[in-house]
This record gives sequence, structure tokens and C-alpha cells, in this order.
Amino acid sequence: MSELVIKNLHVNVEDIEISKGIDLTIKSGEIHAVMGPNGTGKSTLAYALMGHPKYKVIKGEATLDGVDLLSLAPNERSTLGLFLAFQYPVAVPGVSVANFLRTAINAHRKYLDPEDKGISIPEFRKLLKDKMALLQMDESFAGRYLNDGFSGGEKKRVEILQMATLEPKFSILDETDSGLDIDALKIVADGVNAISSEDQGVLVITHYQRILNYIKPDFVHVMLNGRIVESGGPELALQLEEDGYEWLRERHAA
Ligand SMILES: Nc1ncnc2c1ncn2[C@@H]1O[C@H](COP(=O)(O)OP(=O)(O)O)[C@@H](O)[C@H]1O
Ligand SMILES: [Mg+2]
Repeated sequence: MSELVIKNLHVNVEDIEISKGIDLTIKSGEIHAVMGPNGTGKSTLAYALMGHPKYKVIKGEATLDGVDLLSLAPNERSTLGLFLAFQYPVAVPGVSVANFLRTAINAHRKYLDPEDKGISIPEFRKLLKDKMALLQMDESFAGRYLNDGFSGGEKKRVEILQMATLEPKFSILDETDSGLDIDALKIVADGVNAISSEDQGVLVITHYQRILNYIKPDFVHVMLNGRIVESGGPELALQLEEDGYEWLRERHAA
């Protein structure tokens, strides 16, 4: 069993404090949702955990199975088993999806064992084929240049494919649902459900309750103004859909 532990995390973006003391513990096999209005610091939490240089942790800690993440470079965090699916994935013309994934897998292997010769082509092909089948993706996808001319839904699917092939211990999905039509949303959700049932932990960051109809979170947290102000079960997400965030704003107005 693995554990991602965040304690009293404070994060500055360009010298302004955005995250103001976040506590969150996620265990293997658990799905946590962080919800909240735009601009409340949801992405800031994700980027700070992954080690984006613009997001400066000024206080607090984040550990994965007791290992201090904050002192590590982003690629080291990734190798330890942390994965972030971006809200806005970048295009890399000239690099195919398959090549990109194989390079990422090999980078992990090499970090863990400098003697590693990399995943064999047949082994990689099989892995890719299995994971694409799991996510109901067309095989032609693998040969296309990464995110180059991809629709919003296709970009999100590639993020989920990465998550499936890298098999991280913990994945953070930052608004992976935004811009998806209902079919793409279901496929992403099915992928996440399949992955979490393989004992990975998942943090779903979302603005809307909609994706939580398909991904059943064990815990729901609400972020307002850089803090988690409310935590509960799936019913909290439903209540937010009914009542919005205003009642929470009033309650935590101080
Ligand atoms: N790279 C950045 N540069 C400057 N300000 C930023 C940056 N990222 C986030 N912010 C600011 O931090 C606040 C929280 O942003 P963000 O974490 O993206 O919120 P959310 O994901 O909840 O919409 C916002 O006021 C935003 O303008
Ligand atoms: Mg965001």
C-alpha cells in the first residue's frame, strides 16, 4: 500500500500566496476529487506537487511513502510514481505518441537501474496494444504526432493513455474532463476506473460534478481561496451541483 501525504502546504506563484495550508492524504486504490470555482488554487496544488518551477512551496511537506517529494526534480517525482495529466497538454510535432510513451517508460527504467537496456519493442507493442484496448483507442493513434492537431478529447485520451502505460502509484488529473463530449468523458472515466481498480491512487481535480457521475470518488474536497474548506463523500459533490459554492463561501467568509 502506498500513501501520498500533503501537510500544511503553502505555495506562492510570483510572490503571491495561492495555496494557504493544504492537508490531504491519498492511499492506493482511493479516488479523491478536489472541486472548487476557478482561480481557487486547484491547478496550483497539482503543479506544486509535480515540481513546476513557477509554483514555489514556501511551507509544508509532501511525501510519497515517506520520501520527500519537494526536494526532488519533476522527473524524479515521476519515477517515484507521481503522474500529472495536464489541463492543457502541449503538442510535440515530430514525436509520435508511441515514441513519446516508450521514451518515458525507458527514462523511468534507466533512473531505477542505470544498466537497463530499455523495454523491448515487442514488449512495448504489447503493452501499448493492451492499454489502448483498455481505453478503447484506435491503434492508429499511436503513430500520430503527440497532440499535433488533436481534438480536445483526443488530447485528454492521450493523457489517460500515458497514465495507463506508466502505471504511476498516484495520478493527478487536472480538469481532464473539461471540453469533453459525453462519449469521450465516459471513456476517460472508464479508463480512470480501470486504473484505480489496479490499486493506483487518483486525485481528480474538477470544476464540474459531471465527471463524478462516471468516476465514483471515495472522498470529495472543496477548495476555496487556497484552502480545503470542506471534505466529505460523493454526496458532497451532488450537494454542490444542487446548491453551488455560495453556502460554502458564506460559511468560510472569514
Ligand atoms: N503561472 C501563473 N502565473 C501567475 N498567476 C498564476 C499562475 N498560475 C496561477 N495563478 C493565479 O493563482 C490563482 C489560482 O490559480 P489556479 O491554481 O490555476 O486555480 P484553479 O486551477 O483553481 O482555477 C489565480 O488567481 C491565478 O491567476
Ligand atoms: Mg486549474
